[in-house]
Amino acid sequence: MMEVNGKQFKELIPGDEVQEKINFLAKSISEEYKGLDPLILGVLNGSYLFFAELTKALDFEAQIGFIRYQSYAGTSSTGEFKITLPLPEEIRGRHVIIVEDIIDTGATLKKIMEDAASLQPASVEIATMLIKPKVFRNKYPVKFIGFEIPDKFVIGYGLDYDGRGRNLGDIMVLAD
Ligand code: IMP
Ligand code: MG
Repeated sequence: MMEVNGKQFKELIPGDEVQEKINFLAKSISEEYKGLDPLILGVLNGSYLFFAELTKALDFEAQIGFIRYQSYAGTSSTGEFKITLPLPEEIRGRHVIIVEDIIDTGATLKKIMEDAASLQPASVEIATMLIKPKVFRNKYPVKFIGFEIPDKFVIGYGLDYDGRGRNLGDIMVLAD
């Protein structure tokens, strides 16, 4: 058990399992994108650890960048966005991979995909470390998925609870 911001969290996925999964995803991406020179964009802040490990494990050299879409306050989605780092113009004509920490309602993903479409990339796919099941209501398919998790609040491996806990090396879930 671990206390963060006055709430108790317990281990959900140990860090070594996450790392194994990241290596598996990196292998799939390496195979699918060989020769396509993708532009790989991490969604800050939550994807920072997953993004670093995923990109480091690719078997080709790549161009990377970051975007920042913030939609979250506390332990539930607000549905409103603050875009503090927009999609770069240079996605036009490129194969783009958006790297997320977690997809919950899919609202962030929908907004990113709409904004991306207006810049006419050659293709856009999503890689996410975690997905909660309700996203399947969303029309955008997610190609690279680490783990499907229950609809509960998690922290660690980049994910925060009001700014805290991102550095934890395991994925931890809010204890009931
Ligand atoms: P969505 O727009 O509802 O899909 O939410 C996506 C964003 O909300 C993610 O990029 C996270 O930053 C945040 N988020 C969603 N679920 C969790 C969670 O369980 N813990 C921490 N952050 C979360
Ligand atoms: Mg967040």
